[in-house]
Amino acid sequence: MTLSLANVSARYGKLTALADVSLEVPAGARVAVFGHNGAGKTTLLKCAVGALPDMQGEVRFGGERVEPGAVYRNTRHGIGFVPQGHNVFKSLDVERNLTIAGLLHDAGYVSEVYSLFPILKDRRAQLAGSLSGGQQQMLALGMALMTQPKMLLLDEPMSGLAPVIVENVFESLVKINRSTGTAIVIVEQNVKATLPSVERAVILKAGRLVWDGSSDELAKKEDLWAWF
Ligand SMILES: Nc1ncnc2c1ncn2[C@@H]1O[C@H](COP(=O)(O)OP(=O)(O)OP(=O)(O)O)[C@@H](O)[C@H]1O
Ligand SMILES: [Mg+2]
Repeated sequence: MTLSLANVSARYGKLTALADVSLEVPAGARVAVFGHNGAGKTTLLKCAVGALPDMQGEVRFGGERVEPGAVYRNTRHGIGFVPQGHNVFKSLDVERNLTIAGLLHDAGYVSEVYSLFPILKDRRAQLAGSLSGGQQQMLALGMALMTQPKMLLLDEPMSGLAPVIVENVFESLVKINRSTGTAIVIVEQNVKATLPSVERAVILKAGRLVWDGSSDELAKKEDLWAWF
């Protein structure tokens, strides 16, 4: 299923956070979204899942219109979204978090998530709020996977994770992408660490899409930083 944004703009009051962005992410793709703080990356993902009720332009997923303001419906259509920051139910244990996330889907998928993140299995009975920051991040990712999304939108999922874990998570994402065809759209600050795991990258600058091309091409650019 293709995600397509056509001339999408978003404002917060007088501030234009996203200006006339058009972007297509085909089924099964792995795309990174880069840009400085405040460039509009989170806003872009929010528009893609319909979390900003008053955005302009049009978003479609698998041909169907993504309705601004109706995130829950879009989740059912197969878009998984891991927002920036830790988003777990802190007063519930790890396994309950996972099964709640998979409620409308297949609760049995929890075993797949445990095989990706064995630490979550070890800590299945621990309250999510008492997990370390990195472990909560893995849980948030696991919760998104429980919906077995056709496309997974990730907003800086590696922040706070140790470098060796970052590597593991990237590997897991590529593995999920290859085995299930789940498309991955990942917002990341660490360009170098991300490029090998994606095929394509886009760069946002002050709300505008200023670059869209293959990750190989971007990796070769000597003036890479000039684009930011
Ligand atoms: N709820 C809001 N109200 C007002 N302004 C906002 C709101 N959310 C974002 N903005 C502004 O919109 C711009 C884009 O924000 P956005 O969160 O999309 O950036 P970002 O690229 O995700 O940045 P970061 O890398 O820091 O997460 C910023 O200038 C930000 O201050
Ligand atoms: Mg952000």
